[in-house]
Amino acid sequence: MKHRILAVDDDASVAHVVRFLLEEEGHDATVVADIAGAKRELAAGQFDLVVSDLKLPDGSGLDVLKLVKEASPDVPVIMITAFATVSTAVAAMKSGAFDYVQKPFDNDRFKALVVNALRLRDLKLENTRLRGEVEQQYGIAAILGSSQQMEKVREMVRLAATSEAAVMVLGETGTGKELVARAIHFLGARAARPFVAVNCGAIPENLVESELFGHKKGAFTGAVSDRDGRFVQADTGTIFLDEVTEMKRDLQVKLLRVIEAHEVQPVGSTETLKVDVRIISATNRSPMECVRDGEFREDLYYRLNVFALPIPPLREHRQDIPELVGAYLTRRGYGPDAVSKSALDLLAEHDFPGNVRELQNVIESGLILSGGKPVQPEHIADRLIPSLSFRGSEASRGISQGQAAGPTLAEVERSHLEAALKKTGGNQSQAARLLGISRATLLYRMKKHGLG
Ligand SMILES: Nc1ncnc2c1ncn2[C@@H]1O[C@H](COP(=O)(O)OP(=O)(O)OP(=O)(O)O)[C@@H](O)[C@H]1O
Ligand SMILES: [Mg+2]
Repeated sequence: MKHRILAVDDDASVAHVVRFLLEEEGHDATVVADIAGAKRELAAGQFDLVVSDLKLPDGSGLDVLKLVKEASPDVPVIMITAFATVSTAVAAMKSGAFDYVQKPFDNDRFKALVVNALRLRDLKLENTRLRGEVEQQYGIAAILGSSQQMEKVREMVRLAATSEAAVMVLGETGTGKELVARAIHFLGARAARPFVAVNCGAIPENLVESELFGHKKGAFTGAVSDRDGRFVQADTGTIFLDEVTEMKRDLQVKLLRVIEAHEVQPVGSTETLKVDVRIISATNRSPMECVRDGEFREDLYYRLNVFALPIPPLREHRQDIPELVGAYLTRRGYGPDAVSKSALDLLAEHDFPGNVRELQNVIESGLILSGGKPVQPEHIADRLIPSLSFRGSEASRGISQGQAAGPTLAEVERSHLEAALKKTGGNQSQAARLLGISRATLLYRMKKHGLG
């Protein structure tokens, strides 16, 4: 890869050799003779490496080093020195120089130094890029929504990240609890440490303890070797206990002990292991109710819920729907017009009991049904029956038990539309207002039912 290198040396013969060696390696070399020249070049462009003599007509190479470190700390600097200034070169290393070469210098050593310095530079650039990517994917930037409610969520995430306190993330299914938990971790001091997510509701009851705390070989049938638990894996990092209210009471006691003693006891072991783990938990239930019902230990609740971070359901920040739709389309490689304006209007009115995840699923299925054309209301309407997840299950239970099913949702909708139109004497704008939907949605629904 071609790099841009700035060389600062007033000795014409040295400058000539340096330029020759750098260009021989395929680099783009800019040579100046003094600090003033270096200043000018550094201000004008970005360099990947700076090579500077220590003795310059208008000052010391240390000044060049200082200039570079101030402007772009990730750019390595190699010092060139005469024997007499080796002690200064050592001082330069202390101030952040990458290395130094002594004059008259060994060409191969110089080239090797340049290769190493540029490798370091590339690694740092790559690191910065990856960091940006991680931030995009897991950081605060991943939590979308310009509404005040979501702004508040991001503010709470920032606060939670500056502390080590146990955080309990509260919110309905699909509101972004895991997203928020990751953002807290990746924004905090433990960002470079492990983030380990455990879904307490998804692990078979008899395995949860060993999953969390590990086990010794032979502790139970199937324990063929020692195994680290999730707490040990998360040591020095963060553990995310998802659906924490699903944990059985006997395990809750053990978790409480881990939190208090900062140590875990693997199943079948007589020894305990020290662990330094930050705990973030989440639940889509009301933890206080779980406590009241005797399902969740009150002492554990207070240990986990030092910092409560509630996430609002999507229906309480509908104004974010277009933004979320747009971001989802971009992520999936579609343009903003992949969902029509009228479909977007329809989405903005829906209650989304499954929140952001449901919104994403609706768009995804709409994209499939529209077959490459912009998604229209008819491609998503079937999935947007009001609170399908609640009423649907009630209705299907009724039907499976052989009870009279009553009118279908479509029938109810149709008669509701008719009533509204009748009341407003056929005035569509008024009827739409009465029904709390947009005129476009009303027209669409009227068409669907063959009205008007
Ligand atoms: N504010 C948001 N901005 C962008 N994406 C979001 C937001 N909230 C949720 N999502 C996305 O919605 C999906 C569900 O989020 P997540 O898994 O974090 O929800 P959850 O609350 O943990 O759900 P569950 O309770 O079902 O586990 C993910 O794809 C996530 O990226
Ligand atoms: Mg989740």
